[in-house]
Amino acid sequence: MEKIFVFDTTLRDGEQSPGASMSLEQKYELAIQLSRLGVDVIEAGFPISSPHQFEACKTISAKVKDTTIAVLARALEKDIDSASEAVKAAARPRIHTFIATSPLHMKHKLNKDPDSVVEMAVKAVKYARNKVAEVEFSPEDATRSEISFLRRIIEKVIDAGATIINIPDTVGYAVPEEFGGFIKAIREGVPNIDKAIISVHCHNDLGLGVANTLAGVKNGARQIEVTLNGIGERAGNAALEETVMAMYVRKDLLPFTTNINTHLLYNSSKMLSNIIGFPIPRNKPVVGENAFAHESGIHQDGVLKKRETYEIMTPESVGREMSKIVLGRHSGLHGFKTRLIELGFSLPEEDMKKAYERFLEIADRKKEVYDDDLFVIVSEQIGEIKQAFVLDYFSIQSGNTSVPTAAVRIRVKDKLEEEAATGDGPVDAIFKAVDRVTNIKTKLTEYIVQAVTPEKTAMGEVSVTLKIEEKTFIGRGASTDILEASAKAYINALNRYMTVTQLTAKD
Ligand code: KIV
Ligand code: ZN
Repeated sequence: MEKIFVFDTTLRDGEQSPGASMSLEQKYELAIQLSRLGVDVIEAGFPISSPHQFEACKTISAKVKDTTIAVLARALEKDIDSASEAVKAAARPRIHTFIATSPLHMKHKLNKDPDSVVEMAVKAVKYARNKVAEVEFSPEDATRSEISFLRRIIEKVIDAGATIINIPDTVGYAVPEEFGGFIKAIREGVPNIDKAIISVHCHNDLGLGVANTLAGVKNGARQIEVTLNGIGERAGNAALEETVMAMYVRKDLLPFTTNINTHLLYNSSKMLSNIIGFPIPRNKPVVGENAFAHESGIHQDGVLKKRETYEIMTPESVGREMSKIVLGRHSGLHGFKTRLIELGFSLPEEDMKKAYERFLEIADRKKEVYDDDLFVIVSEQIGEIKQAFVLDYFSIQSGNTSVPTAAVRIRVKDKLEEEAATGDGPVDAIFKAVDRVTNIKTKLTEYIVQAVTPEKTAMGEVSVTLKIEEKTFIGRGASTDILEASAKAYINALNRYMTVTQLTAKD
């Protein structure tokens, strides 16, 4: 079976999802997990776009050694200089350069004629090849470009030294048969294509990202660009876990292998979800809560008689054993640490100790601590150190005949600030009291509460989506008390906002 290279762009295209921005520590933690998962290439970021992106690419390049590290650059010398600087410590560095090729983009976005675009692409690839051995080229908006122009530019950039040609369906416009034909037309119509690997990068605007990716593979693509949980610009990219499992389950039609350790898919997906605060939809293929749940009597009966009646893959094959009670209040730091490593986390010593202290607090309140609880505890810890606001204390007065009132004390730069407010319910009162401390104008657009695990003493997890200055920030908080979880989630979203503003202030 032929190998398909998995190029993961969770940290680059994925991070472009509204609200998905990650701290440096979070990106690093995910990069380690991606490398363990077995991806061949990690696209670490877009170095020129901000100092934060540059630092993250540099750190990942220096520390993640068994995976190719790619970084993105427009077809401009200044972008490529920044990219090559950011990736230079990588064991296997790659520069991924792109320029738009559709008539729409060339005319309205770039204001350039096709000949100038070819010239810029060739120049950029040559320039990048002088810096690193591996250069990938993407004709942006390829699926709305003229095929004859695409063939021409691809032939030229391969001559200039590109060894990976990525075909992006930038706006998720293609349908599978058409996209497969498109890849075939490139494979058959570019004379020097045998000197490059064809890659596909499919957005999911019509829900066809995975289907298009697979159509590309069937027609000669040997690299797939995907993201965990399908995150990415707008409706996202083809989901890694879905694309990989489709090839795994349907080997009869898709006789390809990947280097992915499918047993780590579930934990990787959960890690990402907890880090960025995007809940995984219950019905999400492969990793959603309901993906292996059988509700109707007929289905349950069938599965009990023969699992294959209603299950096309086993939960175990994607790492979904039943969440075990692994730890309790008597568990020591060693046991805690061992389980976290098994789950894929590799926290620095100091964060590990903080997470352990938080674990003991939770274990005291809820006795049995499941893997799902650990994901929440640890994700709260990653990147926790740089907190602009820290909840120190809160109190609530509420009831069906009184006006809900909240008091909060928040640490702001070594100073404790206290405020109180009334609200339309206790949660609203807390948020208003926090607003008085932080003075940040927010609009609450979503508030979700869910239990982390099924039992009565479960931790409640709250996800809060805020719009601040036209940008989206998602915060998450967990506690056995949902009002405390709400306060933490709200403050977490504000801290994400503060992180982003601080980073862009340096730009
Ligand atoms: O969707 C797209 O076109 C991209 C390119 C930069 C590859 O993300
Ligand atoms: Zn993209």
